[in-house]
Order: sequence, then structure tokens, then C-alpha cells
Amino acid sequence: MFAENIYIARRRALRERLRTGIALLPGNVDAPINFAHNVHPFRQDATFRYFFGINRPGLVALLDLESGEDVVFGDDATLDDEIWLGKTPSLASECERAGCRTVRGYAALQAALDAARRDARKLHFLPPYRAATTLEIGRLMGVAPQEVAKCASTALIDALVALREVKGAEEIEQIEAALVVTDEMHRAAMRAVRPGAREREGVARMHAVLAQHGVLEAYQSVFTKRGEILHNFNYDGRLAPGELVVNDSGATSAFGYASDITRTLPVSGRFDTRQRELYTLLLEAQDIGIRGSRPGVRYADVHRAVVTHLAGGMLQMGIFKGSVSDIVSSGAYAVVFPHGLGHQLGLDVHDMESYGEDRVGYDVQTPRSTQFGLRSLRMGKPLKAGMVLTVEPGIYFIEALIERWAAERRHEGLIDYATLRACVGLGGMRVEDEIEITATGARVMGPPIPKTVSEIEAAMAD
Ligand code: GLY
Ligand code: MN
Ligand code: MN
Repeated sequence: MFAENIYIARRRALRERLRTGIALLPGNVDAPINFAHNVHPFRQDATFRYFFGINRPGLVALLDLESGEDVVFGDDATLDDEIWLGKTPSLASECERAGCRTVRGYAALQAALDAARRDARKLHFLPPYRAATTLEIGRLMGVAPQEVAKCASTALIDALVALREVKGAEEIEQIEAALVVTDEMHRAAMRAVRPGAREREGVARMHAVLAQHGVLEAYQSVFTKRGEILHNFNYDGRLAPGELVVNDSGATSAFGYASDITRTLPVSGRFDTRQRELYTLLLEAQDIGIRGSRPGVRYADVHRAVVTHLAGGMLQMGIFKGSVSDIVSSGAYAVVFPHGLGHQLGLDVHDMESYGEDRVGYDVQTPRSTQFGLRSLRMGKPLKAGMVLTVEPGIYFIEALIERWAAERRHEGLIDYATLRACVGLGGMRVEDEIEITATGARVMGPPIPKTVSEIEAAMAD
């Protein structure tokens, strides 16, 4: 946990933004896999952890935004818990470390909420992303489960986005620490990739690094030679010469902050000519994204600058035809890059997206596009100093998409389908780093993780 003054200051900052009512902030409970006592590794709710730092299940906080009283409701371990699960610190001692001195048993929560409702106090809560939380808020508030998300407080969401999207020095330090572990993970994977190896082996090497550091992965790794399948969580493949592996994986820090790094690796240890040409273009595009990010610039415009470079390069390769501006404005480029340039990152790898992507990544001046490809950009609004974002362009040859568009003759004046079809089989490639927006630009975070053609080939030969 951070020092208590960090949590006290965060709760005070929320009260300064949201001056009336009570914030109801549930932590997470254990999530069973197939029966109650066989559970997923515990992951605390990021909002609860932001305000209290406590990483244990079964807690709910009420922050009185008028009186300033913060109460955590939860129960200490019973004798049975101690017998089966071991001793845990008292809840009061953990709350004290977060600067909160009022702790009540979980059973007192209902009465506190009933009293608030009797006094006609506004109760702010967030849209839940887990069924257990939906049911519990519904039960506590007397609202049908299907109505809970609709009753969520947009004022609370907006206040939290404003607070959490500007990272403090202590948060930057945590993300940097996560990236140190992620660097080790990716280097271990680079050494494991070779013809005949299983994808699962690369993942296992990265898990060994996580275990050595005593932390969890920030999200389920993508480690695949079918990198054109964007969220491919299958690790059954065996690697063959000439293939590319997309490794998108990151560690959490000790205090729960994420990292999110992607590297693309040639199984043979060397990129072939066509892979090198495309990968070099991709690196240039990412560099344009990094150099174009600064306070006041809309991330949608950074996305546009990146895809303009990709379109120009692929026009020269004969994959596109016509003019770069038409390829970009029509959305034809999305046939090879159907996702967005990046997203915010913090305690969540897609930071705060449980509040609703549009409330985090867009604002009234920046509406979300409905165009295929651009609509998947999760963050389009202007950048601010202190934000942390990913910059993650990719190039993918997705047979189903190419064939659908070819059959529809979509953008046929802009896409050379014969040349594009010849690339099917090459798979996909992506490069992803974290940047911190500074007063004047952007800084790539973490240690340098091999990224250029020569750096990757050297790390794989190591
Ligand atoms: N690893 C998830 C993402 O890059 O967004
Ligand atoms: Mn990402
Ligand atoms: Mn990623």
C-alpha cells in the first residue's frame, strides 16, 4: 500500500469534485471457477483499491461526501477462516494504513444505506461489471438487478475519470515497476521462441518471471502465431520457421498497477524481407504516434496521423491504390488495422473502462466515430499532462475480413485485393508501449524492451 496520506488525499479530492451525497464503493468478492472454494486469483476492484489500497475480498466503503466520514464495512477472519485459509491482518489495521479509522461489520451496511435513503441522500455508485456486484447493489438498494447499471451515477463517473486519468508520481513509479517485470517477461519469451517450441512454453516462461517477482499478469497474455486474431487466447500452436509470434503481455506491480506491452517475433530468429519491410513501417508509425502525443492534441488525431503513415507505406507496397487521404478518410485502411491506436492504462489495463468506454475516452467535443476501425478507438479525446496511454498500431491480414470486403467490392478503387490476398498467411504484427504525457510531449515508459529489427534479432539469439 502507499502511505496513508495518498489515500486520504484521493478521497478528499473526490469530495471536492462531488460535494453532495454518499459514494457507495464495493470492493470485489472472490469469483468461483466451478464451485465456491475453487476461485480465480483475487483481483480487487480498481476504484476501491484507488481509494483504500486494501487487496482483500468482501469489503464495501461508504464515503460521505458532505460530512467527510469514510466507513469501510467488512468482517475479520473467523476461526474457521483462520483454520482453512490462515491468519489475516485485522480489517481495522488495514483500514488504518489507508487513513480510515471507521470500520463496521458487513451486517451494518444495510442499516447505513437505509438511513441514507430515509434522509433522501443521493447515493452514487458505479455501473458494476461483475454479476455478484450487480446483485449485491441491487439487494442493498432495493433495485432490480437489470435496473442497477441504469441507476449508476454519471456525476461519480465523471469525477473519478477526472481524478484517475491524471497519474500521480507514485502511480507512475508503480507502472514503471510493472514494466521492469514486463521487460524480463518479454526477454524470456524472446529466448523461448524457436521452431518446434509450443506457444504455451513462451507463456510458461513469462509466468515463471511473474512468479519470481510474486505478481500476477495484468491481463491474459496473447501469445500466438495467429496474431491476426486480435484477442487470441489459444496457446496450442507449435511454432514453425517463417512464422511471426505476437506477444501481448504485461505484469501488475506490487500495488496493482498494470503494464501492457506487445512485441512481434520472427520464429526463425530473423525477419524475412517482407516481414521486415512491414515491421519497419509499423515501427515508424508507432514513432509518429509517440512523437505526436502531447497535451491538447486529440488522440483521435494521433490515430489519424499513424494510419496516414501506414496507408502511405502500404500504398507504395501496392496493397492500397489511389490517394492516401482517400484511403484514410474512407476507412479503407482498417482492412489491415481494424482496432484503435490505444487506451489509458493505470490500475486497470484498459483504465476505468468499466465506467463506460465513451465516458473515459471521449467527451462532448469529441464524439466517437461509427466508421469500421475508427469506432474501435477506445480513446479519442484531447490528451492531458499526467495521462498514461498505450500506443499500439498493428498490421493484420485477416482472411475473413479481406474476403468479405472483396466480395462486397468494398473500397475496390483503394484496395488492391490481389496484393492483399498474397499477404494472407503472414498473420499479424503489433508493437505496443506505454507513454506518459508530459508538459510538452510524451515519454516512453519503462526500460527499453527490444523493439527494432536488430534489437529483437539480437535478443532472440541471446
Ligand atoms: N492487451 C490488451 C490491449 O492491448 O489492449
Ligand atoms: Mn493495449
Ligand atoms: Mn496489449
